[in-house]
Amino acid sequence: PSFVPRNAADSVVVVGAGLAGLFTALKLAPLNVTVISPAPIGEGASSVWAQAGIAAALSEGDTPEDHAADTVRAGAGLVDEAVALLMAREARARIEDLLRYGVPFDKDLEGKLTFGHEAAHGTNRILHVKGDTAGRSIMSAIIAAVRKTPSITVLEGVAARDLVVHKGRVRGIVLAPTMEEAQTDTFVLPARAVVLATGGAGHLYSVTTNPVEARGEGVAIAARAGAVIADAEFVQFHPTAIDIGRDPAPLATEALRGAGALLVNRKGERFMRAVHEDAELGPRDVVARAVHREVVSGRGAFLDCRPIGPGIAEKFPTVASTCRSAGIDPAQEPIPVAPAAHYHMGGILVDVQGRSTVDGLWACGEVTSTGAHGANRLASNSLLEAVVFGARVAEDITAGLPPLPPQDLHAVARASGGIYRNSQAERTLRETMSANVGVVRDADGLSEALGTIIALERENEGDPQLANMLTTAKFVATAAFARTESRGANFRSDYPAPDEAQARRSFLTLEQADEF
Ligand code: SIN
Repeated sequence: PSFVPRNAADSVVVVGAGLAGLFTALKLAPLNVTVISPAPIGEGASSVWAQAGIAAALSEGDTPEDHAADTVRAGAGLVDEAVALLMAREARARIEDLLRYGVPFDKDLEGKLTFGHEAAHGTNRILHVKGDTAGRSIMSAIIAAVRKTPSITVLEGVAARDLVVHKGRVRGIVLAPTMEEAQTDTFVLPARAVVLATGGAGHLYSVTTNPVEARGEGVAIAARAGAVIADAEFVQFHPTAIDIGRDPAPLATEALRGAGALLVNRKGERFMRAVHEDAELGPRDVVARAVHREVVSGRGAFLDCRPIGPGIAEKFPTVASTCRSAGIDPAQEPIPVAPAAHYHMGGILVDVQGRSTVDGLWACGEVTSTGAHGANRLASNSLLEAVVFGARVAEDITAGLPPLPPQDLHAVARASGGIYRNSQAERTLRETMSANVGVVRDADGLSEALGTIIALERENEGDPQLANMLTTAKFVATAAFARTESRGANFRSDYPAPDEAQARRSFLTLEQADEF
C-alpha cells in the first residue's frame, strides 16, 4: 500500500503514540522508527488526558528511596521493590529530558520547580503544568520533538491486528486502517523489533476515563504471539470520574483532593472519615470502593471543591470547563462523581529492559506489567513509568541492534478477515465487565462474566477488533477468579481479607486463560 513508509524495511515499529511510544521513538533516534497511531497523533492516547502530573523525588528533603517506599506501600504487597527503586532513581534524568524537550513544568517565582501533593505520597512530589494540564503539555512538547526528528515516521489512522512471528521471533506486524470503509485492507509491516505501547484497557468497561482507543488490544496481540501476561486482575478504578453521563467519563483529578476538596454524599456527610484515617487522601482503591458504596446505596457521591476557594477555575482549568459545559459551577456546588476504570496495572510481562517473553517483542507504558505498580498504582507514577521504561527499551534495542526482517513476510502473516464493529456485542461486554469484574467482585459474578465472554467469542468469530477486547477481558476475569483474596484493586466480597499465601504476582498465558 502507498502509505507504507520507504524506510520500513529496516525500521523498529512502535505501536502506540502516547507518551511511552513517542518517548521510545525519540530515544531510538537516529535508528529508523515507524510509529503506528490509530488516531491522529495527539488524540486517542490516555497520556494527553493525564491531569495531575508526574511523580519524581526532586523536592528538598525527598529521596528516590522514599518515593519507592510509598510505591511499594500503595502496591499492597505485590510491587517488585527493585523495579520501584530503579524507576524512582531514574526520574531525575527523565524529568531533565522532558525539560529539554520544552515541557513547562510549574515553577515558583525564583524559577524552581514546584511540587503538588497526592494521595499515598509521603510528601509533595508531583510535577504539574498549569494546574491540571500536565498530560496535554507534556504531549505537545514530545509531539513537537517527534515532528523535528527525521528518523521517525508516524503512520496515523492505522491499528495493529497481529504480530508476525517467524522462526520463533517477532519479525513484523499486521496492520489495518481504522477508517470504516478500509478496515479489511490489512497489510504487513516488517520490523527489526516491535515495541507495543498501546496503552490501557478502560473501554472493556462501560464507565471509564480512558479514550475509546484504550481497548486492551496490546495484551491480546502479545498473548496470541505467546507472551506471558502478568497481574491482569488489577484494574484501577479512579474514585472521582465526573458523573454527567458522558462516555468516556471526564476525570476530576485527585489533585483536587490534594488541594482540599472533600467527598460527601447527598446528605452532606463526609463518608471517607469513617473509612480511612487519611479520609479523602486514602489509597485509591479504598476511596473508589467507598464512592462505589455510596453510589449503589443511592446516597450518591459528590466532590465538594468549595474548600479550594474561588481560584478553582484558574488552578484546575480542565475540570472547571468540563463542569461548566454540564451546567455545574464547581466553586458553588459539589460535583457528582462515580468510580471509573482508569488504569490497568496488569499487562504484558516485561523485564527491566522492557523485553517481553517473546523474542523481538518489547513493550512499555500501561500495556505492560513491569512490577512497579503491584496491586494498586500510586498516583502519578504512570507517566513516570512510561518515560523510564521507554528510555530503557530504546537503550536495549540500540545496544543489541536486532537483525533485518525477511523482505517478504506476507506468506507467514495470519489473515485477519473482515473487520467490523459489533456495537451491541461491545456494549454487552462492557456492561458485563462493569457489573461483574468491577470495583467489587465475587465468584458468581466472575463466572457469569467468563460465560458471557465465551459466548460472545463464539457468536462473533471473524471480528478481530472485538476478539482482542474479549481476549483481554478473559485475562482480567480469569486472573480475578483465581485470586481468592482481596488485595489492592482486586476486591472479592466473597474473600474480603488479604491472604498472605497469595501475596505474589499472577502470570498467565493465553493457553492457560483459555483452559481455565
Ligand atoms: C488524577 O489526576 O487523579 C490521575 C492521576 C493518576 O492517575 O496518576
